[in-house]
Amino acid sequence: MRVLLTGSAGFIGSHIAEVLDDEVIGADLRTGVDVRDEAALDRLLPGVDAVVHQAAKVGLGVDVADLPAYASVNAYGTATLLAAMARHGVDRLVLASSMVVYGEGAYDCPRHGRVRPGPRRPSDLASGLFDPRCPLCGNVLSPSVIDEDAPLDPRNAYATTKLAQEHLAANWARETGGTAVALRYHNVYGPRMPRDTPYAGVASLFLSALLAGRAPTVFEDGGQQRDFVHVRDVARANVLALRAGTAGALTAYNIASGTPRTVGDLAAALAAQTGGPEPVTTGDYRLGDVRHIVASPARAARELGFTAEISFEDGMKEFAQQ
Ligand code: UD1
Repeated sequence: MRVLLTGSAGFIGSHIAEVLDDEVIGADLRTGVDVRDEAALDRLLPGVDAVVHQAAKVGLGVDVADLPAYASVNAYGTATLLAAMARHGVDRLVLASSMVVYGEGAYDCPRHGRVRPGPRRPSDLASGLFDPRCPLCGNVLSPSVIDEDAPLDPRNAYATTKLAQEHLAANWARETGGTAVALRYHNVYGPRMPRDTPYAGVASLFLSALLAGRAPTVFEDGGQQRDFVHVRDVARANVLALRAGTAGALTAYNIASGTPRTVGDLAAALAAQTGGPEPVTTGDYRLGDVRHIVASPARAARELGFTAEISFEDGMKEFAQQ
C-alpha cells in the first residue's frame, strides 16, 4: 500500500512514519507541502491508496484573532485534501481528531444520573469549587468515562475545526463510498513532544519547568483527570486504523491508555523522575479548561484491536530522560 502522510515531520506524524510498513510519501509544511495547495496534492496523490492526515494547527486557539488560521489550516485544508482524494480515486482516510470535540467529559449526578454539564461558573472556580455541577439540580457531579457516541461540544477554535474535519470526512465518505476513520487522541506525550510553545500540553510544560529547575505549577487542586497516552501507542493506532472502518462512513475511536491520572499525579511523577523541585498547587484556573476528560478505550480495542501498551510509569520515565 502507498500512503500519503500529512504532518509527517510533526510530533505524532514523525512517529507514524517510523512504524508504517507501507511505502510512505511525507507531506509537511516544514518540508514545503501545504495541504491547502491543490497543485501539490495533484502531484502527490496519483498511485496513493490511503491518506493519514495529521497536519493541523494545534493548541487551543487563544483568542478570536486565531479563528481564521484554525479555519484555514484545519477546515479548509482538510476540505482541499478530501476534494483532491476524490479527484484521484483515493478511498481511505485516517484522520487525527481529538478528545476536545467532546467538551467536558461525562458525569453522573446523584439524582439525575448521566449528564453533560456546560462550562463551569467563574464564581465556583474562584471559590475553589472545581467539579462541575448538574445542569438540572446544581449538585456537584462525579466523573465517568466518555464513549464515542456522547454528544459533541467543541469549545474553542481548535476543537471546532477538529470537529469540522470529522464532519467533512464523513461527507466525503458518504459521497464517494470511501472509508474514514477518526482517531480522537487523548493527551499524547512522548519523545519529540513540542516544548516551550504557548500551545504545549501540560506534560511538556511540566517537564520544561523541571528541567529548568523550576517547580511545575499545578492549576485548580490538581485533581483534574486526563488520559495520557504515549505517542508510540498513538502511532500504532494509526497503523491499525488503516485496515479498519466501514465503506461510505466515518467511524470515530477514542485513542487513550484507559488508565487516567490526575494532573497532580503527572506533576509528581515527572518531579520524581527528574529529581526536580516538588510541584506547587496554585488553585489558579483557566476559564476554558474542562475539569475531567476520561475515555472509554473499549471500541478501539474491539474494532481496531488497539490497546495501549506503554504504561504511565514507563512512559513518563522515558519522557523525563529526553
Ligand atoms: C490538550 C491540548 C489539546 C489536545 C488535548 C488532547 C493544549 C493546550 N491542549 O488539552 O489541544 O487536543 O490535550 O491531546 O495543547 N495545567 C496545569 N498547569 C499548567 C498547564 C496546564 O495544571 O502549567 C492543567 C490545566 O489546567 C488542565 C490540564 O493541566 O486541567 C491539561 O491542560 P492542557 O494539556 O493544556 O490541555 P488539555 O485540556 O488536556
